[in-house]
Amino acid sequence: MKGRIFSGMRPTGALHIGHLSVIQNWVTLQEDYESYFSIVDLHALTTGYEDRLDFSSLRREIALDWLSVGIDPQKSAIFLQSAVKEHAELHLLFSMFTPLSWLERVPTYKDQIQQLSQQGKDLGTYGFLGYPLLMAADILVYKANVVPVGEDQIPHVELCREIARRFNHLYGTVFPEPKDLVGKVPLLPGVDGRKMSKSYHNAISLTASSEEIKTRVQQMVTDPARLRKDDPGHPEVCVVDKFHKIYTPEVAEVEEKCRAGKVGCVACKRHLAENLEKLISPFRERRAYWEEPGRVEKVLEEGAQRARVTTSETMKEVRCVMGL
Ligand code: TRP
Repeated sequence: MKGRIFSGMRPTGALHIGHLSVIQNWVTLQEDYESYFSIVDLHALTTGYEDRLDFSSLRREIALDWLSVGIDPQKSAIFLQSAVKEHAELHLLFSMFTPLSWLERVPTYKDQIQQLSQQGKDLGTYGFLGYPLLMAADILVYKANVVPVGEDQIPHVELCREIARRFNHLYGTVFPEPKDLVGKVPLLPGVDGRKMSKSYHNAISLTASSEEIKTRVQQMVTDPARLRKDDPGHPEVCVVDKFHKIYTPEVAEVEEKCRAGKVGCVACKRHLAENLEKLISPFRERRAYWEEPGRVEKVLEEGAQRARVTTSETMKEVRCVMGL
């Protein structure tokens, strides 16, 4: 084992294949690291406190997505953040010595407040200011040394290191300084060429049936200059090609034939749909297993138990050095 990893995702609804590379990265890492993957419902509350989110169905959905892609509960602890109270406890203790200025200068903080205030949401709250501090507590309560995240989260992991340093300086060395591990996330557009998002109805869900895959691929926007099958195509302006680049090993040949006008868009889309089917069908099979009543609940309960073993040890040390 190379060490410990912690990562989390907010439960905000079913995932789509734009999220897939992040979870696949976790699937690889769980082989080499002691892994903790958390559905961070408390983080969802920092921005969605008035939404009355139905966490019981949201957490089930996201857990099923993780399990179907191949997170293995034998190898990784999968659990709900709010089920492991030490996250909240450490967050509170960290808040005692965290300067306000550190939180106010996190790059996304002011931006997001502004953006969401246009949607009528007031994020001038204590909880939202503390978002990255809660994240630091998530990571450090496991003494994780590696944190697989998206690029947008790098400043948060940087803050987490600063918190660890400050704690260690004030009370004695308890925490490692975790490194971020930014996986390659290929940028997949939605079928209409805009950002892939469930709310735009342009996403391919991780649970898509064969029919849905075919329909979505048919909807993909292709080179508008290509009217006839033997017109030369321009893969660089084609959504289908963006997907071939990731899911089709022989993409070079596909692009060459397109440019030469040797394969039409219909056949090219059929080829992609077949590859997406190969990608997604194992997810469907695993999902069918985990969907049986009680299975997800058991995974989350056992995951939380395993998590608590680690977090209660850390908290013992923290309480001791802080004199509590
Ligand atoms: N902030 C992360 C996101 O929005 C989610 C998250 C919460 C997280 N706690 C974490 C990620 C700890 C990594 C480690 O994507």
